[in-house]
Amino acid sequence: MEVNISGSKREAARTFSEYLVNGISKNDTTHIALSGGSTPKEVFKELALYFKDAIDWSKVQFYWGDERCVPPDDGESNYKMTKDYLFAKLDVPEANIHRIYGENDPEEEAIRYGHILKKRLPTHKGLPQFDLVILGLGDDGHTASIFPYQINLWNSKKYCEVAVHPETGQKRVTLTGQIINNAREVAFLVTGTGKEQKVFEIIEKQGNYKRYPASFVLPKSGKLIWFLDADAANLVRT
Ligand code: 6PG
Repeated sequence: MEVNISGSKREAARTFSEYLVNGISKNDTTHIALSGGSTPKEVFKELALYFKDAIDWSKVQFYWGDERCVPPDDGESNYKMTKDYLFAKLDVPEANIHRIYGENDPEEEAIRYGHILKKRLPTHKGLPQFDLVILGLGDDGHTASIFPYQINLWNSKKYCEVAVHPETGQKRVTLTGQIINNAREVAFLVTGTGKEQKVFEIIEKQGNYKRYPASFVLPKSGKLIWFLDADAANLVRT
């Protein structure tokens, strides 16, 4: 596990963007699962502003680690956030964007998206393998859209599951643990004071960390990198 601590949210977004530029192959296709959330939004803004020409976007295939079950033009949509802050500013071929159809029946979409992953991604140890999965961390320790009260979804044998937000009841389609942990690399993007306790418990394996889905992100490749700002890392002993 590698922990990058930057002074601010913006600097964390810059550090991650530089990591991404260095990680994207100049020749082969890179398959990336994106996340929703405020820190990924900051990263998208940074990439669009300062790294637009640093990456051959035609070599990048975009997927999502989770999506809210809403139409693609809904303010809640992770796809819409990415389109507004990233795709609208770059020259990304439409064919490279594989959104989760939030407007579909959730159970049917979880199955459909699982088939997309199986068809489009390379296979590693019998499972679809992303080159990079980007994750956020919820205040409650959720990641992707696997919430603590539904931590059983993490161990599902399916590639995607339907989750339900504990407060709003909003349905979501999410990758499961076996897909996330089969990735070549996983990057957590976490900033802000609201996350410091959970970041500490998860990284230092303290307190109630076993109750948080984010604690189960342990890619078999061993490549797990945290991109934090000083606020989120405030309690971490580095
Ligand atoms: C989502 C995200 C979710 C998010 C965390 C952190 O769809 O909501 O996938 O897992 O990353 O809730 O969100 P913030 O970075 O906004 O705190």
